[in-house]
Amino acid sequence: MHERAAGPAIELRGAGRNFGERVALQPLDLRIERGEVFGLLGPNGSGKTTTLRVLATLIRPSRGTGAVLSWDVVDDATQVRRSIGVMPEKPSLYERLSIDDNLRFWAEAHELPDVERAVASALEFVGLGDRRRERVGQLSKGLKQRVALARAIVHRPPVLLLDEPSSGLDPSAAVAMEGMIRDLVRDGATVLMNTHRLAEAERLCDRVAILREGELLELGTPRQLRSRLLGNVVEVEFNGTVDLPVRRAVESVAGVGEVQWGRGGVSCRLADADRDTPDLVARLVHAGAKVVSVRQAGDLERVYLELMARSTRPGLEEAA
Ligand SMILES: Nc1ncnc2c1ncn2[C@@H]1O[C@H](COP(=O)(O)OP(=O)(O)OP(=O)(O)O)[C@@H](O)[C@H]1O
Ligand SMILES: [Mg+2]
Repeated sequence: MHERAAGPAIELRGAGRNFGERVALQPLDLRIERGEVFGLLGPNGSGKTTTLRVLATLIRPSRGTGAVLSWDVVDDATQVRRSIGVMPEKPSLYERLSIDDNLRFWAEAHELPDVERAVASALEFVGLGDRRRERVGQLSKGLKQRVALARAIVHRPPVLLLDEPSSGLDPSAAVAMEGMIRDLVRDGATVLMNTHRLAEAERLCDRVAILREGELLELGTPRQLRSRLLGNVVEVEFNGTVDLPVRRAVESVAGVGEVQWGRGGVSCRLADADRDTPDLVARLVHAGAKVVSVRQAGDLERVYLELMARSTRPGLEEAA
C-alpha cells in the first residue's frame, strides 16, 4: 500500500550526522536493494545506531539525504514511518502493560483496520500467542526481544531496521531470532540490521558494511571481504607448547607478516599463501610442533579484527 514501485529499499546519499562537535556519522553512501539483508558492523560508537535512527526518522541527517522506498526521511517522514518496522537499541516497551496491550497500542498508532487480527498474527509469528496476557515487565530478556520484534512487524512493514536484534540473548534464543528474521525476509522484507555477532551476520547477511568512528571502512558480501582482507592469512593448529624454537620457526619464514599466537595455534599473514604455507608448516614441524590442521582463515570475525588492526596501523608505522 505504501510501497513505491521503483527504487532501492534504502538509500543514503552523503548522509552524515553530527552531535555538536562530534561527528557520529561521516557522509555515507549506501544503497540496499529490496529483499536484501544488510548488516552494519563496527565497534561501539562507530555510528551504526545513528545510521538506523536517521533512516527511522528519529533524527535528521546533518547533511546529505536518506530514503526508504524512495520516500525521503525528512520530507516524507510519515510515509517512511509507515514503511519501516523498527527494533530500537533499547526495546522501550511499556513494562506495566501486557504483551497484548503493548501490541494493541502500536497497532492503533498505525491506524490498522483490524487491530485484533494484526496483533494476533504478530504474536503468533514470534511464538507468544499463548502468553499474550502476561505483563511485559515480568518477561525474560529473550521474550522482551520477541515482543519488540512483534511490535516492529505488527503493521507488516516492507523494510525492517533492527538494532542488535539478538543482543543479550542466549545462544538458542539468538538462533530463534535469526530464524524469525530469515522468515521475514522469505516473506519479502528488506532488513538492515546492526550487530556485534559476526557469525550471525555471516550467516544472515547478503552484504555487510563495517564502520569505524563514523567512517565506512569496507562494504561487500562476506565472501568479498574475506578474500579482500584475508586472502593470505593461514591458521595452523598444533599440539605442544609455544616455546622459543616454535616462535623462531614462524618468524623465520620468508613471507611472514603479522603473527598472532593463540591457544594451540598460530595465525600468520603470508606474502603468498601458496608459496609460503609449505615452508611455514615444515619449519613448525621441525621445531617440534605437532601440526594437526592448516587452513586459510576465513570468517567475518577475522575480517573484522584484521580491519580494526589495519585501520590503526598507519599511526604506528609513522611512529616507527
Ligand atoms: N544523542 C547523542 N548525543 C551526543 N552524541 C551522540 C548521540 N547519539 C550518539 N552519539 C555519539 O555518536 C557516536 C556514534 O554513536 P552510535 O550510537 O551511532 O554508535 P553505535 O555504532 O551504535 O555503537 P554501539 O555498538 O555501542 O551501539 C558515539 O560517539 C556516540 O557517543
Ligand atoms: Mg548502537
